[in-house]
Amino acid sequence: MDCLHMKSPIIQAPMAGVTTPEFVAACAEAGALGSIGAGYLSAAATRKFIREVKALTEKPFSVNLFVPESTIANENELVDAYTALEPIRKELGITSERPKRSIAEFDDQVRVLIEENVKVCSFTFGLPDENTIHLLKENDVYLIGTATTVQEAKLAEDSKMHAVVVQGSEAGGHRGSFHGELTLEPLNELLIDCVNTVEIPVIAAGGIANKEMLDKALSAGAQAVQIGTALLVANESGAHPIHKQAILHSNDGCTTLTTAFSGKTARGINNRFIMEMKNTEIAPYPYQSDLTKEIRKEAAIQGKSDFMSLWAGENVHLTTEGTVKEILKKFI
Ligand SMILES: Cc1cc2nc3c(=O)[nH]c(=O)nc-3n(C[C@H](O)[C@H](O)[C@H](O)COP(=O)(O)O)c2cc1C
Repeated sequence: MDCLHMKSPIIQAPMAGVTTPEFVAACAEAGALGSIGAGYLSAAATRKFIREVKALTEKPFSVNLFVPESTIANENELVDAYTALEPIRKELGITSERPKRSIAEFDDQVRVLIEENVKVCSFTFGLPDENTIHLLKENDVYLIGTATTVQEAKLAEDSKMHAVVVQGSEAGGHRGSFHGELTLEPLNELLIDCVNTVEIPVIAAGGIANKEMLDKALSAGAQAVQIGTALLVANESGAHPIHKQAILHSNDGCTTLTTAFSGKTARGINNRFIMEMKNTEIAPYPYQSDLTKEIRKEAAIQGKSDFMSLWAGENVHLTTEGTVKEILKKFI
C-alpha cells in the first residue's frame, strides 16, 4: 500500500451523505487517506466533489462507489412497504406521491474517476465486473474491495483488487456484504481469518475507536485501519447536528442492525423508526432506500431524530468531539 503515500496507516471511512470536501481534505492533510463517499452521488456531482477536494489538498484521496445490484422488487412488496411507511409520512406532513426507483450512475462515475485522474477507488456492496476493473487498472487506479466474510475477501482477491477492507460486525453504517447469507463476524476473528487466507493487503474496519484498537488490528496483520464513527462528529464532518449529538450522548449497547431505512442491513443508533418498522414489510435495497428518502430528509429538516438514520458503530459511546486533526491525533 506504499503507493498510497499515507503518513499514518489510517483510512477515513467513506461515508456517503456525510463526507464533505473539507472533511476529506482535512483527513488527507492530517496524514490519513481521505475518502469521498460517492455512493449516492450522480456522475456530475461526483466530478464536482473531486474537484472541490483537489482545490483543498494536493494529497491523494479515494473515491468510494456502490456497486449496483440487479434486484427487482414486485409491485405487491412495494405497495406493502410503502403502506407501512404511511403513518410516519403523515406524522411528518409528507404528501407527495410514492417515489420512483433511483437510477445508479456507476459506469459514468467510473468514467469521471478516470477523467479526473483519481488514484484510489474503493467499492462496497459487491465487486465491479472484469471490464471495469481492467479499465481502472489500465489507468493506474488502486482498487480496494470490501468484505464481511473470508469468502468475500477471497473473491476480492480473485477479482484482482489491490487490497480489501474487512468489515467486522461492529461497524457503523451498511454492511458491505455481497455473497451468501448475511454473516456477523466480529473484527478480531474476521481479520485473523482474512489475513491467513488472502495475500493482498487487508484493511481492518469496525469499532476502531482508539490507538489501542488500531495497534491491535495492526499486530493482527492489518496494513491499515478504516475509521468511520470516531470521525463522524468532527467539526468538518457533514453529519447532521442531531446525528452528532446522538453520537456524543450515546451509551454502550445503543446501536442495532436494521434493514428499515434502505432494505440493506446497517448498524445505527436504535430509534422509533427502527422499532416501528420491525414487523412490517421492507422492500429490498435500493427500493426501500428510495421509499424512505423523503422521510429521512423531512425528519432532518424538522429535527426529528426519531425518523433519521443515525448510523454509528458499536463503539459509538467512545466518540469524542474535535477537529479531524484533533481526533486523528488520538490514533497516532
Ligand atoms: C455514517 C456512515 C456512512 C457510511 N457509508 C459508507 C459508504 O458510503 N461506503 C462504504 O464503503 N462504507 C460506508 N460506511 C462503513 C464504513 O466504511 C466502515 O466500515 C465503518 O464506519 C467502520 O466502523 P466504525 O464506524 O465503527 O469505525 C459508513 C459508515 C458510517 C458510520
